[in-house]
Amino acid sequence: MAEAGVKTDEQEKQEETVNKNVISSGNTELDSRIGGGLPLGSLALIEGASGTGKSVLSQQIAYGALQQGLRVVMFTSENTVRSMVKQMDTIDMSVLDFLLIRRLRVYPVEFSQGGQDSSKYLLNALNAEENADLFILDSLSVVAGSITSSAILQFFEEAKQLCDQGKTIMVTLHPQAPALMEQLRSLCDANLVLETERDGQKLVKMLTVAKIRGASSVTGAIVGFDVEPGWGMRVIPISKARG
Ligand SMILES: Nc1ncnc2c1ncn2[C@@H]1O[C@H](COP(=O)(O)OP(=O)(O)OP(=O)(O)O)[C@@H](O)[C@H]1O
Ligand SMILES: [Mg+2]
Repeated sequence: MAEAGVKTDEQEKQEETVNKNVISSGNTELDSRIGGGLPLGSLALIEGASGTGKSVLSQQIAYGALQQGLRVVMFTSENTVRSMVKQMDTIDMSVLDFLLIRRLRVYPVEFSQGGQDSSKYLLNALNAEENADLFILDSLSVVAGSITSSAILQFFEEAKQLCDQGKTIMVTLHPQAPALMEQLRSLCDANLVLETERDGQKLVKMLTVAKIRGASSVTGAIVGFDVEPGWGMRVIPISKARG
């Protein structure tokens, strides 16, 4: 029998296997709330209105993936390369070295320029990055605003095929039409919903685990969090979050 706090060989082996199959957020508390991390090979949809934490969460996952030795490509409609590095620095995620050795590539994109063809350009760009393990698209909202619902759905279907080939793709999106959201959610392997609730004077940030493939035990879990300079997402008890 193992002493309390000392892991048996079996436990260590299990954890190793688990860790190889998921992308950690680099934040142990957050990982445990989402079932260990983001499973490799998933298509993940992060939904939320402005200011709910989509970019911070995707930066956490990107940083966690880099720490695990994975190659990450970020398409951003919100940042330049410089502002992305700066933003991540403020939450204690230094990515400059990863950029220099090209384990991280950041592509600022003006999705609005592509009009109806923007999702095709984006898919071509994903296909061109053969060496990448994790793609982050933050955010797809501008693309979604300039193409039809069926084109958005088709984009997700094609992204899903890339995931079947082993890529992990994380897409952030402002909520769209409910019928479309339903279809997108059912296509995705992971679906995290970010919300900000007003509670008196206080704004409360919450992450709901709507779905994570292979981690049904955490389905429906609600995690309260704050974003803190020099730290990033800090999980806080819901009661405290609500004040
Ligand atoms: N470095 C930081 N230090 C402290 N707070 C931060 C930091 N970066 C972001 N925040 C806060 O975290 C929250 C979430 O920001 P984030 O940019 O992730 O939102 P978002 O969902 O991506 O919004 P949008 O849809 O407008 O892009 C905001 O309240 C923001 O002010
Ligand atoms: Mg954002």
